[in-house]
Amino acid sequence: MEQRLTRREWLATLVKALATLLAIVYSIPTLVMLVVPAFRRQKNPWIKVGNANEFPVGEPKAVTLSYQRRDGWVIRTVRSTVYVVVKPDGSLKVLSNICTHASCAVRWERSRNAFFCPCHAGYFDAEGKVLQGPPPRPLPEYPHKVEGGLLYVRLENV
Ligand code: FES
Repeated sequence: MEQRLTRREWLATLVKALATLLAIVYSIPTLVMLVVPAFRRQKNPWIKVGNANEFPVGEPKAVTLSYQRRDGWVIRTVRSTVYVVVKPDGSLKVLSNICTHASCAVRWERSRNAFFCPCHAGYFDAEGKVLQGPPPRPLPEYPHKVEGGLLYVRLENV
């Protein structure tokens, strides 16, 4: 048995369909604004370390950096310690202070002329190469640049 819509029912259905369509169309930009940042990871910024000529030659100097980082919805303040190494030829290296064995923090020991990792007695030379102990790789090196006499570093996952 065929059931026919009355003119009033047909108009009501049409209005509901248009309202639903408009709601969907108008919600798309909002949904994009809500969802996209959660998947976008901000590229790590260049962070100022200091005057490039303030670091001593041959002796790594620790610098603690603090910067804001956005991961999706979360903006957090990140603190990281790096070691700036000036080689005898004047070139620079910026090393992580995280041991490559089990991620303990290393420290420069002037008396031993080496980085020392207290967790399992790992040692690295001034340029981050493994001297002894269990670390499987040298200390990670961060990308850096010098502009206008200032040293900048990019703290990437290395
Ligand atoms: S964590 Fe550094 S030697 Fe094990």
